[in-house]
Amino acid sequence: AVHAANHLRALKAIKTTKENLREAIAGETHEFKDMYPEMIAAAKEEGARDAERSFTYANAVEEHHARLYHDMLEELDIQKESFPYYVCPVCGMTVDHKAPDKCPVCGVKGSMFKKIE
Ligand SMILES: [Fe+2]
Repeated sequence: AVHAANHLRALKAIKTTKENLREAIAGETHEFKDMYPEMIAAAKEEGARDAERSFTYANAVEEHHARLYHDMLEELDIQKESFPYYVCPVCGMTVDHKAPDKCPVCGVKGSMFKKIE
């Protein structure tokens, strides 16, 4: 994360929160609409089941991330409440406020989710 932040600063790629969210939405949207579907199809064609599962998890979660970022963008000016996020250690599913009983994407127990303050 430190290296990524340094590289982004060098690229002058860190902008306002609204601009960053808009770029993140565009990136996630590209991934779940175009990038991962192609990768899933290729993995399926090659019979690479582990890769297919990994790409399928990522595809579902990237779509969810795009929605989360969209909601954040809409609420940016009105949101005053601070709350934690919980991230699935298997597929990366991200939820706010409280971990689910089990991950809706990969099924791992909610107690395994990592809390991000
Ligand atoms: Fe998961």
